[in-house]
Amino acid sequence: MNSQTPHRVLNFSAGPSAIPLPVLQKAQAEFLDYKNTGMSIMELSHRSETFEAIIQKAEDDLRELLEIPSNYKVIFMQGGGTGEFAATHLNLMLSKSIVEKQRKLSEANPGQNKTLKCGYIVSGIWSKKGHQECKRLGGNAHVIVDSKESLGQSGYYDLPPVSSWDLPKPEETAYVYYCDNETIGGFEMKSDSIYPHIDPSVPIVCDMSSNILTRKVDISKFGIIYAGAQKNLGPSGLTIVIVRDDLLERKDSINNIPSVLDYKYFVDEGPMPHTPPTFGIYICGLVFEYVKQLGGIPTMEEMDRKKADLIYNFIDSHSNYFTNPISPSYRSRMNVVFILNNKSLEKKLIEEAKDAGIVEIKGHRSVGGFRASLYNAITVDNVQALVDFLSAFCEKHF
Ligand SMILES: Cc1ncc(COP(=O)(O)O)c(C=O)c1O
Repeated sequence: MNSQTPHRVLNFSAGPSAIPLPVLQKAQAEFLDYKNTGMSIMELSHRSETFEAIIQKAEDDLRELLEIPSNYKVIFMQGGGTGEFAATHLNLMLSKSIVEKQRKLSEANPGQNKTLKCGYIVSGIWSKKGHQECKRLGGNAHVIVDSKESLGQSGYYDLPPVSSWDLPKPEETAYVYYCDNETIGGFEMKSDSIYPHIDPSVPIVCDMSSNILTRKVDISKFGIIYAGAQKNLGPSGLTIVIVRDDLLERKDSINNIPSVLDYKYFVDEGPMPHTPPTFGIYICGLVFEYVKQLGGIPTMEEMDRKKADLIYNFIDSHSNYFTNPISPSYRSRMNVVFILNNKSLEKKLIEEAKDAGIVEIKGHRSVGGFRASLYNAITVDNVQALVDFLSAFCEKHF
């Protein structure tokens, strides 16, 4: 290894995860002296004009890439996905339209203490955690469907038909929440699998932490979309929230939630009412520029499809050795989970992969097996290298 050819591995981590090399190289080149300021970006005040330009450009580029309509706000926050489990619920329960709906529900059912249901589609561990957080905060957390339980399976492998979901009436529903891509289980919704079934008057909250910026999304169908940056966007520490502005209207200026989780605080005082994760915003900005240069979302989508096809075709054609438990229509393009049928070879597979420069393919501790995360920084060639390695492993050991 020398400074010209840095030692780099093929990093299939689920997050924090690989960042495109050209982005890292640009950040490295600018690291000690950002644009003649004589400072590293990490030393630069967030109140400086230089940083204000960085955050503004990051927002503009993200808006362009995702075609975010003008009636949606983009907020750069901290707190990760876990912070958003709470923030989405707390903010929506203060929303004027939801407070009004609650008033009508109470008036229509006097003396019954009826509260609006916060509906959760549970398709994996992260959406389950969202539901638990709502409960923890005293919300009327309602399970619309829990795919594992309703299908009686040992994991989140499929989604039962909508006809079996327990969808409350729109006038009794505060919001509907789901996770677009379950990072641990490797389960991804199809882009149109949820909103056609939800009454348009009910805001949809979507956790896109692990598949944002990888396919075209009709933002206008959602109330809130959020994503932790540490998968497809950049480093951990930054969370991006896209929220429809009518949901920020409040009644009687009640704001009894922590400021750092309050979307309205960021919008009214924003975009930086307190010190933001400046380095994370800068790197995400570079990633947005990079994705734009590659051709934007259509290019990423095509590349992601190719990558996923490569590895799933390999798994399917080696079914004696490997299994992917997810129903084919919900296989994640981002997190490919697979089981080695001969479990006694698991350790060897990890060791030999490491020797071949391939790391972070171990499955999440709660589900075991293997998982290769194919976010935007992973190229088709990287996936081909993984497939070649797995193929050679099969030849050697079976
Ligand atoms: C889909 C999804 N949602 C939420 C989370 C929780 O995010 P954080 O660890 O940033 O709180 C994760 C973490 O990996 C995730 O993959």
